[in-house]
Amino acid sequence: MTAGEDQSTEVGVGPWAGERPAGDHWDPELLENGDRRNVVDRYRYWSREAVVADLDTRRHGFHVAIENWQHDFNIGTVVRNANAFLAAEVHIVGQRRWNRRGAMVTDRYQHVRHHPTIEEFVAWAAAGKLPIIGIDNLPGSRPMETTTLPRRCVLLFGQEGPGLSEPARRACAELFSIAQYGSTRSINAGVASGIAMHAWIRAHAGAPPD
Ligand SMILES: C[S@@+](CC[C@H](N)C(=O)[O-])C[C@H]1O[C@@H](n2cnc3c(N)ncnc32)[C@H](O)[C@@H]1O
Repeated sequence: MTAGEDQSTEVGVGPWAGERPAGDHWDPELLENGDRRNVVDRYRYWSREAVVADLDTRRHGFHVAIENWQHDFNIGTVVRNANAFLAAEVHIVGQRRWNRRGAMVTDRYQHVRHHPTIEEFVAWAAAGKLPIIGIDNLPGSRPMETTTLPRRCVLLFGQEGPGLSEPARRACAELFSIAQYGSTRSINAGVASGIAMHAWIRAHAGAPPD
């Protein structure tokens, strides 16, 4: 692929130089005007639909879920991490609305499903035979550092402040904590989600595509 020459400091590539390539996955507007999106090089000039379709062929066996009773500002980071580590889907449990800022537009490439209540989320997980794995540093949580997360699972995160709600804790097949060494009680859910997803990747994923 030959991208148009780009002298600017902007992210991405300028208009396609030379003859237009053939194929349904190319986006005519991006070829015409350049592609300034925050996507990896292999998806330059691809339409959003084509990128999602390609990601769908190789999504991983874990889902991520986060409780959202108070519009938690960490959800955007959870969604961005889910995109980077290629979670099957993201689940928002509670309020439908969430602050998209931290997602950096990655939600456009991610399947995000909403469950108004814990009960509906639990029913969805049971229908898919997916164990709900709570990630929180609660009494009884086992250290994530010395265990392997299941290949097929939903990793469930709590909110800033209360952490996992009581009904959410009861719904978990297991609870795992991330080791901490300083004075703070906890890290934020966005950071915890990145650590947990990477633990899953280390256990179950191969090398990413070039
Ligand atoms: C800011 S924490 C709040 C609750 C936390 N249990 C506390 O005592 O402060 C928000 C969420 O981040 C995740 N989290 C934060 N620190 C964690 C840790 N050390 N291990 C596992 N999850 C953690 C959990 O999902 C938690 O529900």
